Amino acid sequence: MASSTLLTPSSGRSRFKTVLWMSLGLTALFVFITSEAFLVADYPMYHAYRLQVIADRHLLIPHTLCGVIALLVGPIQFSSRLRQRHLKFHRVLGRIYVGCVFIGSFTGIALASGRPGLPGTSMQAAAWIACTTAAFITARNRQIVHHRQWMIRSYAVTFTFVSSRVLNLWPRYWSHLGDTLSAVGVIAFTLVSLLAVDLGLNWRELTTRRA
Ligand code: HEM
Repeated sequence: MASSTLLTPSSGRSRFKTVLWMSLGLTALFVFITSEAFLVADYPMYHAYRLQVIADRHLLIPHTLCGVIALLVGPIQFSSRLRQRHLKFHRVLGRIYVGCVFIGSFTGIALASGRPGLPGTSMQAAAWIACTTAAFITARNRQIVHHRQWMIRSYAVTFTFVSSRVLNLWPRYWSHLGDTLSAVGVIAFTLVSLLAVDLGLNWRELTTRRA
């Protein structure tokens, strides 16, 4: 059989999905080690932030739990095979994801309140809630193509937790950004993530000309 027939659009797409999820998983693992594990181990550069995290633990525990659940549920929800075979499970997990996004957003805003990061965090939380609510409503309306697109946008915002921490170990990034740049950074990460998703969703229209 010719190799061109083996590489059908769907096999190309599933290979792309595999590579994408593997890259996201490895990036998340890198961030959990270099940011979260080092924070727990009291890495000297993070010491002052660690004290703040300990003081905020009543909000951070539900926030982190919900954030981690949202981060882990995403890849399961995007599995076409699981959706086709276990639709009920997909619906239950979907509701859990929505609940986690709402709790994660409001605890995130509460964590930032009274701090210079509040505008950036509020914008990030608003984008998280708006995309997730749109995904929920389109699912209820059986607009499955749009539901999938809104879920991808929602998960892109979920993933800003990881992407915005990739450079944490670099001292200049960690300590020289300052309050204003940090807030702008959170907004920029959110906007760039959403823009990247929409460029991806429109890739075919952007790269092929209609006959
Ligand atoms: C995957 C989703 C998320 C997870 C797992 C998560 C988890 C965490 C953790 C472990 C911390 C404390 C340690 C650290 O900063 O690394 C934290 C802090 C924080 N998170 Fe999240 N988070 C997520 C998404 C979000 C989102 C979308 C927002 C915006 C609403 C947000 C707002 C905050 C704020 C404001 C802080 C405190 C930062 C500070 O004190 O400077 N988080 N989060």
